[in-house]
Amino acid sequence: MKPLPFLFLLLTRWGSSIYPIVLAPLTRSRSFGNVPQPHAILYYSQRTSRGGLLIAEATGVSNTAQGYPETPGIWTKEQVEAWKPIVDAVHAKGGIFFCQIWHVGRLSNRDFQPNGQAPISSTDKPFSPQLQSSAIDVAHLTPSRRLRTEEIPQIVDDFRLAAKNAIEAGFDGVEIHGAHGYLIDQFMKDQVNDRTD
Ligand SMILES: Cc1cc2nc3c(=O)[nH]c(=O)nc-3n(C[C@H](O)[C@H](O)[C@H](O)COP(=O)(O)O)c2cc1C
Repeated sequence: MKPLPFLFLLLTRWGSSIYPIVLAPLTRSRSFGNVPQPHAILYYSQRTSRGGLLIAEATGVSNTAQGYPETPGIWTKEQVEAWKPIVDAVHAKGGIFFCQIWHVGRLSNRDFQPNGQAPISSTDKPFSPQLQSSAIDVAHLTPSRRLRTEEIPQIVDDFRLAAKNAIEAGFDGVEIHGAHGYLIDQFMKDQVNDRTD
């Protein structure tokens, strides 16, 4: 007989007391003005079970991080305060709550950027046909501006501060969003990153 997977064992044997379920991060686009809203208390607490891990929707590290409508941030005091009751509600039901911190980089357009500036990235080269055949509508993306070498430490610092803010808001940890073609991925992928510095 094949051994049962550990997760399955936990679910079936201890299912009534421990639900080691993970909620994947899911962008909701309901954080008006990039501030988490009180209705997220209900949303996240409904998805909490004792011992379960929830990863919050991708949450911007700065005012250049956004690329989708009404996504939350965690770079201002107001945002940190708005997260607190949401985190408290998850903790009250025994959940473990991580904040996913992100920066979309070039997957953005001027409308999401301060002063209508170009989105920032590792590169300023145009999008590849590969991206154009994906679900993302490149017509809505503004060509990016390549970060200068001396600007990069500020972006690192934005992530550092966002992580610190997440802990202040009560989160148990952070997940750094380093995939899906967003800023960190733009630096990590040779197809996109054409830097020599
Ligand atoms: C509407 C929607 C929003 C998502 N938002 C995020 C997100 O904010 N951060 C993230 O890392 N993944 C996000 N994802 C990816 C999911 O977390 C998940 O990894 C993906 O749906 C694959 O999981 P599955 O194989 O269980 O469907 C999103 C997916 C969907 C469908």
